[in-house]
Amino acid sequence: MHNMRKVAVGSLGLVVLCTLALLASGKPFAKLPSMAPLLPDMADELTAASTSSAGPAVFLNDYEHDPVAAAKATKVESLPGLDGPLPAPAYAGYVTVDKEYNSNLFYWFFEKDGGMEPDTPIILWLQGGPGGTSMFGLFVESGPYGLYQNLTIFEREYSWTKFAGMLYVDNPVMTGFSFTDSPDGISRNQDEVADNLYAFFVSFYKAYPQYKNNPLIIAAESYGGKYAPAITYKIMTENANSSNPNPPMPLKGMAVGDGLSDPATQILGYADLAYNFGIADPAEAATMREYQKNILHNIETKNWPLASKLFNDLVDGPPDLFQNYSGSPNYFDVRISYTPVYGGDFSAFLNRSDVRAALHVGDHYFLDGSVAAEGLQDDLCKTVKPLMPTIFNNLDVLIYNGQFDYIVGAPLTENMLALFGPEWHGWRTWLDQPKVIWRLAPSDQHVAGYVKQFDSTSSTTFTQIVVRDAGHISPWDQPQVISQMYQNFAYGLPFKP
Ligand SMILES: *[C@@H]1O[C@H](CO)[C@@H](O)[C@H](O)[C@H]1NC(C)=O
Ligand SMILES: *[C@@H]1O[C@H](CO)[C@@H](O)[C@H](O)[C@H]1NC(C)=O
Ligand SMILES: *[C@@H]1O[C@H](CO)[C@@H](O)[C@H](O)[C@H]1NC(C)=O
Ligand SMILES: *[C@@H]1O[C@H](CO)[C@@H](O)[C@H](O)[C@H]1NC(C)=O
Repeated sequence: MHNMRKVAVGSLGLVVLCTLALLASGKPFAKLPSMAPLLPDMADELTAASTSSAGPAVFLNDYEHDPVAAAKATKVESLPGLDGPLPAPAYAGYVTVDKEYNSNLFYWFFEKDGGMEPDTPIILWLQGGPGGTSMFGLFVESGPYGLYQNLTIFEREYSWTKFAGMLYVDNPVMTGFSFTDSPDGISRNQDEVADNLYAFFVSFYKAYPQYKNNPLIIAAESYGGKYAPAITYKIMTENANSSNPNPPMPLKGMAVGDGLSDPATQILGYADLAYNFGIADPAEAATMREYQKNILHNIETKNWPLASKLFNDLVDGPPDLFQNYSGSPNYFDVRISYTPVYGGDFSAFLNRSDVRAALHVGDHYFLDGSVAAEGLQDDLCKTVKPLMPTIFNNLDVLIYNGQFDYIVGAPLTENMLALFGPEWHGWRTWLDQPKVIWRLAPSDQHVAGYVKQFDSTSSTTFTQIVVRDAGHISPWDQPQVISQMYQNFAYGLPFKP
């Protein structure tokens, strides 16, 4: 009897340990694909190229009181592999956002091609993950450069720098080049994410006062559906805070693409989406519905680790239910059952010491983001919805989804919006608003997307778009459409049929 009890306790202990190990795996919600493998001789060359010193890192805080010196110290003079002058000034380096823990965010800012004008918008781009580097956005989605598989640089035809200043920040710390020296510096929730990003902007505007009136747009994708509301709300509150010594920031709007913001209402769409795409049969959809119920229950009881684990089992494997039912690892695009090659391995390129020297990161190597992802594991199923009505009621807002995305498919976002309630003053209007069929040119056969748009105040608009023929990585799938969409949003241009 005694022995049996011991055995039982022993195996329970083992189960608990295994569960803990699973929970601690720190899986990002939407892991960015690994880039194309390097050719063998290239790999050797790059390893050699990445180990020599890149000189000292540059910290923008050291130049906060001297804009001329700041611009000089952080200017990206050239990029290895790119011949000729850069199309516009670009700046890169670190901002120390938390002195106590020595937490530092890496940024790379590109002025609009041809230079900034007073009304040129600045778009902050935040990748999701968590732990996804914004260098993915830069090199794969929207930046002035991309990389071929042989790591040759090309200039992107539909770069968003054609109409805006683009600010790419590796967020949170321990993502890409961003780092912290203390485990306590790792962001555990969206308040900590927002505090660091706010500190980033305080230094940014001190060091580059020339941008203090350019309209600022916070834009993010995927898990950035948490980050964008968090930092937007933080800037709104601090702008309105009369004891805040920092001048107000020129916040104009927020854009979220395929964003996870309120899991409790968004996850309810997974089973139907899988069924309606023809991926899950009725029995499989029923199993998915059970998972959804269970996740919701754990959200309600605030059992965050278990909610995250069940979420991972449902959609963020392998081997999760989506993969088991679809036979595809690609929850970014249900049309294809493999992970496409999104270009050359930018992390290997960025790791090179000549590139690190050009970007002023010194001897900090490029991180894979797993530590940042683990830090936010319990945040996965938490919501930022309470922050959104204030943002929706007062700023320009763009919410969009790729039509063929699964992980944050359009119906998931529609479900969240439909369940908002009257604190969002535009809620009823949104529900009643007929959609417009949007084409880039009236004579186009191709439909770019479906747009619901209305004025939310006398000076702001709310815009929701489903982008046709796009998945989760919508700027990669539809570069011209997404670039035009951001340009329309940033300049208040109409979305016409
Ligand atoms: C790299 O790849 C691109 C695209 O395939 C090609 O145009 C270019 O010539 C290649 N460059 C080198 C140096 O191999
Ligand atoms: C307002 O700013 C002061 C000074 O920075 C700060 O101590 C306070 O917490 C802020 N209040 C809010 C509501 O954020
Ligand atoms: C998916 O299938 C694998 C292999 O059969 C299995 O081990 C795993 O438990 C399944 N995933 C879920 C969430 O049921
Ligand atoms: C960057 O280089 C360092 C040192 O060689 C290496 O440990 C690390 O794995 C590299 N990271 C990437 C993303 O290539």
